[in-house]
Amino acid sequence: MAAQGSNGFVPGFPANFGWGVATSAYQIEGAVDEGGRGPSIWDVYSHEPGRTAGGENADVTCDHYHHWRDDLDLMAELGLSVYRFSIAWPRVMPTGKGPLNEEGVDFYSRLIDGLLERGITPFPTLYHWDLPQALEDEGGWVNRDTAQHFAEYAAAMFDRLGDRVDLWLTHNEPWVTAFMAYVGGEKAPGVRNNWPLALRVSHHLLLSHGLAIQALRGSRAPSAKIGIAPNIHPTVPFSDNPEDIDAARRWDGFQNRWFLDPVFKGSYPEDMLAEYERFGIAEAIEDGDLTVISSPVDVLGVNFYHHAMIKRDPGSLYLGMTSVAVQPPFTEMGWEVTPEALHDVLLRLKRDYGDVEIYITENGAAFADVWDGGDVVEDPRRVDFVSRHVEALARAIADGVNVKGHCVWSLLDNYEWEKGYAKRFGLYYVDYPTQRRIPKRSALWYRDQIAASRAGS
Ligand code: FCB
Repeated sequence: MAAQGSNGFVPGFPANFGWGVATSAYQIEGAVDEGGRGPSIWDVYSHEPGRTAGGENADVTCDHYHHWRDDLDLMAELGLSVYRFSIAWPRVMPTGKGPLNEEGVDFYSRLIDGLLERGITPFPTLYHWDLPQALEDEGGWVNRDTAQHFAEYAAAMFDRLGDRVDLWLTHNEPWVTAFMAYVGGEKAPGVRNNWPLALRVSHHLLLSHGLAIQALRGSRAPSAKIGIAPNIHPTVPFSDNPEDIDAARRWDGFQNRWFLDPVFKGSYPEDMLAEYERFGIAEAIEDGDLTVISSPVDVLGVNFYHHAMIKRDPGSLYLGMTSVAVQPPFTEMGWEVTPEALHDVLLRLKRDYGDVEIYITENGAAFADVWDGGDVVEDPRRVDFVSRHVEALARAIADGVNVKGHCVWSLLDNYEWEKGYAKRFGLYYVDYPTQRRIPKRSALWYRDQIAASRAGS
């Protein structure tokens, strides 16, 4: 274990390290009917009976659309140097194509100006799961045309915001967009067990990623940096049983290599192509697609929460495999706490995919935080979680991995998709009835870590 410094903070980060937080539009903005925004698949899905915990939706959530200035002040108080947020496609293009909605573009334009005024680097993600419903009505990501529409939307953002944004991400967690939405049925649009559709979606997402990179290179800011942010779950077999060992290899193919190989190597992994043959994957892939998909990226975003312990489970929807959590303590999501796996997977990424710049684009934990009316919410388990992952990062940097930044998920408690508001991930507690934000101890720890790191301790 890398030791914490004598003052309790983790040394070993360069002075210009990107200390940040991450959020996404649907989870924090609210104001779903304001400013000319069109509906997204999440507006529709969250209003369908039985889809989300308690029927909760993000119509209001943290109301960041109206509180964004105060929220930027919170970031400045923490001393952040980078803010990863997402642009809601339906806010800037209400039907997913056609003319821009100027009021929507202005919102992000002001947000970016506000960040720059506070010395914080804007790090927008173009797609964090909120597809315009009008495109869903034409087939959504199952329809190959959506990739083209995405590239046009991306080009419009590069044109309008590229004078002030140097760092972009295309997709957040394409594995979730494809497989949790079209096999697990837990994310919008909530299709269950349809592998042919899920695989088509995964391919179209990757295609749209490549097309967006090409659009950036042809834009007014061609040298801006761009990448993608898959959720990376390093796999470990549940037991020494050869079936579990094989399941861990296949899950790695299913979740990690299926997205990383085409982006970095220009090919899908052979073992998974063979496995997916029966779902008609070959018909979705056209000549030249992999060349587009492997357009060089400048950065890799790594969303890291926990390793995946994999067990063969013939009854599972996911190719007869399940991810299980065995080692307590678990977070409120039921996830294990595995900081060592972050260190190890970063070394593996460098070994297998090259020396790309890496940002940890999400890392955090939900706990059942309670506000007692005081000025600070005590969350010792989150302080422990974040500090141990920051230590793991410091070790990865010492071992030669090119890690440029770390974004805690999340700045604020927010709408945790189908799980609703009970899962609190914020460095700030949100009292939803009043929209008051109360710092948790972890926010103060992160602030002091950033200051100590900048001071060179
Ligand atoms: C990730 C999502 C993010 C948030 C965290 C907890 O999978 O990208 O929006 O929900 O999980």
